[in-house]
Amino acid sequence: MRQLLIIYHSQGGNTRRLAEAVADGAREIEGLAVLVSTAQQINSEALLACDGLVLGSPEYFGYMAGGVKDLFDRTYETLRGHRRSFVNPTRSSSAPGMTGPEPCGLSNGSAPDFSSKRSRPR
Ligand SMILES: Cc1cc2nc3c(=O)[nH]c(=O)nc-3n(C[C@H](O)[C@H](O)[C@H](O)COP(=O)(O)O)c2cc1C
Repeated sequence: MRQLLIIYHSQGGNTRRLAEAVADGAREIEGLAVLVSTAQQINSEALLACDGLVLGSPEYFGYMAGGVKDLFDRTYETLRGHRRSFVNPTRSSSAPGMTGPEPCGLSNGSAPDFSSKRSRPR
């Protein structure tokens, strides 16, 4: 069974609710195990073990949340060279002034194709 890992950081609960909504949808896909976790609880091994990754971060002070940045900082050296492709299936508008979480997806190339259940990338 393939594993989708949904990672988020959320101080106020918006991005957590978004992550849970994504998980609810993903659980409808047959043959996919869905794990939801905060960025703080994730390590390199968990990232390498999953087949697909959805990462949700609120925008805090014009940048990704510190908890998500910390995840990148902690895992970068171990994960270097492992990434095979980057997809962005669910990115919401990034128009100037846009507020709120903007999830994006990171796939290692063997992840299931979600495009049949989701709107096409813009
Ligand atoms: C400390 C802090 C800084 C924020 N900075 C920005 C920002 O720079 N740009 C923006 O559009 N929204 C900003 N926001 C709004 C959050 O991105 C928005 O409320 C988001 O939904 C919060 O997600 P959360 O409930 O998962 O923490 C900020 C909110 C907080 C609490």
